[in-house]
Amino acid sequence: RRRLPRYSTLGAALNLIRDARHVIVLTGAGISVSAGVPDFRSSNGLYETVRDEYPNLEDPQQLFDLEYFKQDPSLFYSFAHRIIPDRRTRPSLAHWFIAHMQRRGQLLRNYTQNIDGLERQAGIQRVIQCHGNFDRNICVGCGQECLDDEYVAACIENRRVPFCSHCNNPIKPDIVFFGGGLNQQFDDNIDLDLSKADLLIVMGTSLQVQPVCNIVREIPAHVPQILINRESVGQDGHQFDLQLLGDCDTVVLQMAQMLGWMHTSGECAGL
Ligand code: OAD
Repeated sequence: RRRLPRYSTLGAALNLIRDARHVIVLTGAGISVSAGVPDFRSSNGLYETVRDEYPNLEDPQQLFDLEYFKQDPSLFYSFAHRIIPDRRTRPSLAHWFIAHMQRRGQLLRNYTQNIDGLERQAGIQRVIQCHGNFDRNICVGCGQECLDDEYVAACIENRRVPFCSHCNNPIKPDIVFFGGGLNQQFDDNIDLDLSKADLLIVMGTSLQVQPVCNIVREIPAHVPQILINRESVGQDGHQFDLQLLGDCDTVVLQMAQMLGWMHTSGECAGL
């Protein structure tokens, strides 16, 4: 990839979305920002907060570094409560938009890098949580699952480190850290999905983390790619066919209205 962008208007995006049968939607933290979950790399994102609060830390990404966690799990547990959305957090319009594509039978897969679980709250079943989730808690020493969810939840709430009752090593939620492997479902599905897809929509991600960001390069070149994001992203001169820059909720709301996916009352169908 890539030649010149092939499309230039919102109307073109609407036609692509209306006609597509097998859409891959690749999402990142930006789609949960309006729901109150901070992203990572924006100026008011989580990594900036880590920098402010831990100025001696070499790199804020150590928050999600497996080797660092094994040595000092307290950094992660001093932030974990900010990563898990509380019970009042509701999915955003962007989540709803993806759920609606699923309802229309168009969603091949939502590959999300998010660990907030808002996709499932929005009813998106065809989702792969590439970077894991907080559903399970695993000991980094003996690998046993800690089944006492309440103990881990209480530790997260009180900013304490939970320890394994068998070997006394720290317990880690089953989210993917740098240095760890991706959710197995990613490897199980990605090749077939890439060969079937007829449209790629990328939403709310800086496309800086491998291997998920490689999807934009690995999808066959004939498949149109639409970016919906606050700013232009993509490395090594990668070019999207169409960029709709702005807040993703604003963009998808306009598209949903123009696609006739809204109730006449002005509310989103289904949310
Ligand atoms: P980033 O924080 O790197 O990127 C979020 C992107 O969304 C940026 O380009 C923002 O400008 C954009 N954005 C923010 N709010 C937006 C909004 N309301 N509408 C549209 N765009 C918006 O987050 P990710 O790309 O998801 O890894 O980060 C990828 C991975 O890096 C994460 O999964 C996490 C992190 O290290 C793990 O947790 C393992």
